[in-house]
Amino acid sequence: MRIGVLGGTGPAGQAVAVQFAGIGFEVVVGSRAMERAEETVAALAERWADRRLALVPGENDAAAGADLVVAATPWDGLLATLDPLADALAGKIVVSMANALTRFGKEMVPLLPPTGSVTVAVARAVPRSRVVGAFHHLPAGPWSDLDHPLDADVMVCSDDREARREVAELVDRLPGLRGVETGGLGSALAIEALTPALLEINRRYKTHAAIRVTGLP
Ligand SMILES: NC(=O)c1ccc[n+]([C@@H]2O[C@H](COP(=O)([O-])OP(=O)(O)OC[C@H]3O[C@@H](n4cnc5c(N)ncnc54)[C@H](OP(=O)(O)O)[C@@H]3O)[C@@H](O)[C@H]2O)c1
Repeated sequence: MRIGVLGGTGPAGQAVAVQFAGIGFEVVVGSRAMERAEETVAALAERWADRRLALVPGENDAAAGADLVVAATPWDGLLATLDPLADALAGKIVVSMANALTRFGKEMVPLLPPTGSVTVAVARAVPRSRVVGAFHHLPAGPWSDLDHPLDADVMVCSDDREARREVAELVDRLPGLRGVETGGLGSALAIEALTPALLEINRRYKTHAAIRVTGLP
């Protein structure tokens, strides 16, 4: 399976790319500009020279041609990014990891999109795709370090049960992570809105917090 990352040049997209490449997938690192994708892939290839990661630079439409696509742009650029790619993404799993948030005074706080969550907005933007929410809580910096796996759960939501299970099983294959299915897209609001709280935890405790769910079998 080939994985494509829209906005793969940012910290979050790079972390997704190296983690999936690290377990053997070919990953298309997408960008609005081929030059930035090439620079990113060159830098990652140099950083992880010993790993021989299968990272391929491409514009976002090339990334959308992959079998499974992760959308890793900021939330406010996401719908404009997806709109022209709707045909290319039809029938595919599209993973949304975007959190809508803003600064209010000194604190990061969630923004409430009119659809309730960014993931639901994505599902409406690409209605022929199998939209799944995941990876919202993983801090990109430490997650991009292949030598030190994160210890975290990834909450995975979708109205498409098969797609949700598939993504949760993919997450299980990533070092240190466990996929936890949280139900339909209705749970995306709570998942996304938790992220600013994690960022505040990071700021106050000078750490990179992530989530573990207890009580699971
Ligand atoms: N950073 C984290 O720790 C983290 C963790 C979990 C989830 N997330 C979520 O993951 C997403 C990406 O986070 P990030 O920190 O990597 O963001 P970012 O660096 O601000 O943006 C990622 C990439 O998206 C592209 N981009 C920027 N503005 C855009 C726009 N208006 N329209 C289309 N593409 C645009 C850029 O790539 P090109 O210029 O090359 O096209 C950029 O390198 C966000 O939605 C964030 O909420 C982030």
